Amino acid sequence: MDFELKNLRPGDAVAHDEQALAMLLGRDDTGAAFRRQGKGGAALAALLDKARKSGDFGGRPGELLGAWGATGLDAPRLWLAGVGTAEPKDLRRAAVAAVQAAQRSGARTLTLCLARRPGAARLMSIVKGAAEAAYEYTTTKSAAALKKEEEDKPRSRLTRIVLAFEGADDEERKRAFARAVSVARGVELAREWANRPANHATPTMLADAARQLARRHKALKCEVLDAKAMERLGMGALLSVARGAHEPPRLVVLHYQGAAKGEAPVALVGKGITFDSGGISIKPAAGMEEMKYDMSGAASVLGVMQALAETAPAINVVGLMALSENMPGSKATHPGDVVTSMSGQTIEVINTDAEGRLVLCDALSYAARFSPRAVVDIATLTGACVIALGNVRSGLYSNDDALAAALLDAGEAALDAAWRMPLDDEYAEQIKSRFADLANTGGRPAGSVTAAKFLQRFVGEAPWAHLDIAGTAWKSGKSKGATGRPVGLLVHWLLAQADAAPAKKPAAARKAAAAAKTVKAAKALKAVKAAKPAAKTKKAAAKAKS
Ligand code: BES
Ligand code: MN
Ligand code: ZN
Repeated sequence: MDFELKNLRPGDAVAHDEQALAMLLGRDDTGAAFRRQGKGGAALAALLDKARKSGDFGGRPGELLGAWGATGLDAPRLWLAGVGTAEPKDLRRAAVAAVQAAQRSGARTLTLCLARRPGAARLMSIVKGAAEAAYEYTTTKSAAALKKEEEDKPRSRLTRIVLAFEGADDEERKRAFARAVSVARGVELAREWANRPANHATPTMLADAARQLARRHKALKCEVLDAKAMERLGMGALLSVARGAHEPPRLVVLHYQGAAKGEAPVALVGKGITFDSGGISIKPAAGMEEMKYDMSGAASVLGVMQALAETAPAINVVGLMALSENMPGSKATHPGDVVTSMSGQTIEVINTDAEGRLVLCDALSYAARFSPRAVVDIATLTGACVIALGNVRSGLYSNDDALAAALLDAGEAALDAAWRMPLDDEYAEQIKSRFADLANTGGRPAGSVTAAKFLQRFVGEAPWAHLDIAGTAWKSGKSKGATGRPVGLLVHWLLAQADAAPAKKPAAARKAAAAAKTVKAAKALKAVKAAKPAAKTKKAAAKAKS
């Protein structure tokens, strides 16, 4: 989907020969505001007042009134879309409704026109809503079927969305719009990979996608660890999950550098089980196909890294994707096996279907090597979290109140909400093992909490948070598919950090970047590197091993 920002008033927009036009109007908007506006203002005002008077349009959120070929207007397809009191949530609803109507009409371009200039949050919710409604999965459909679909149903023709309002050309709006589009594209990338079936989204393919992303963006660097490298690092937990699969595992490390090199990064760690059959503790057949989404955490990391590369905030971020299949096979881990994690802790694998925590624990140990200032892991970790929170809020666990608060705030602002869950030590009783340092399951009670308690055993000194997205990363039923959550939450949180960062950080980053261009400066860069206390890095690595 292409997005464009246009400086255009409603009264002018209706006089333009737009293919499809949706007027986003609130409960209190009347014709008076547009009557003297541009060539089409009077006609629009008359239409709106008439619609309000008849009771056919009240500006309520989600309400949509089609006015095809209205008199005095050049835009043939016009919808009045209600936004209530213009809360971001309501604007999103209106954008979704308008996009769906435009898709049914067969238009190629849709213009969303606002009566008032929106702030960054409102702009974001409109762009994200429109993009999410417009996304269509096509990757594994044949060209012939797609062609027929386009002929039968015009849905797939919409390729451009224009956001129009008066004052759209100010710098602040342009910046907010560019950010919104990048977030929307990040969400879309995460959805796309999560939707792809397991034979079209293997660990190798996802690692290649990460490499390609890094090739396209200068600010990104990509390293990929294979099974051999994992063996050398002692990642016995991650490798135990991959044992039963023919597909080899991968650990992707994407570095985004937007600040000075010495600046501690934020680490994101995504669960990337490209198919979760359950392994030897095999899952029932019904609904098992949904386990292709079990790499949604890793896909969200990929989406976030792309959004960062496009928006270039002054922070450093390391994104890890722990990629493996979980399959039964003659080499598969048996229930009862004891494996040794990279941290040195031994784990009794009570249930091979509790594999997410096994790949994540080694990835968390690896993340500690970067001496991060915060670590956030993202995982479709437990069915128990779906039972607890459904598909509305992601489960948030954290050992740090400030980090938890910041993530919760970001979730609210990005319309990608989370809910804090407990981490009392009493819950850890359930993951004690008679045969190893800990067990990978803790029984049915509080299954999402005991999974988080397991992960907590592998985090270093940095503040840590865990997002259980089992209920929020995809929808089942009629509109089944990946949602791209929590890309919105994460990008919002990261950009807010960059915006709030003291001026010296971006300045240092700029200096380092400029410095890198000259020989003299290469030395300066070395100095910046050297400024990072090597002892601390070693200590973190040692800790991760202990
Ligand atoms: N990937 C699943 C979690 C899941 C279940 C996500 C349903 C989305 C919907 C995870 O690997 C898993 O199988 N967890 C088990 C853990 C249990 C064996 C302790 C679960 O939740 O049943
Ligand atoms: Mn599982
Ligand atoms: Zn899983």
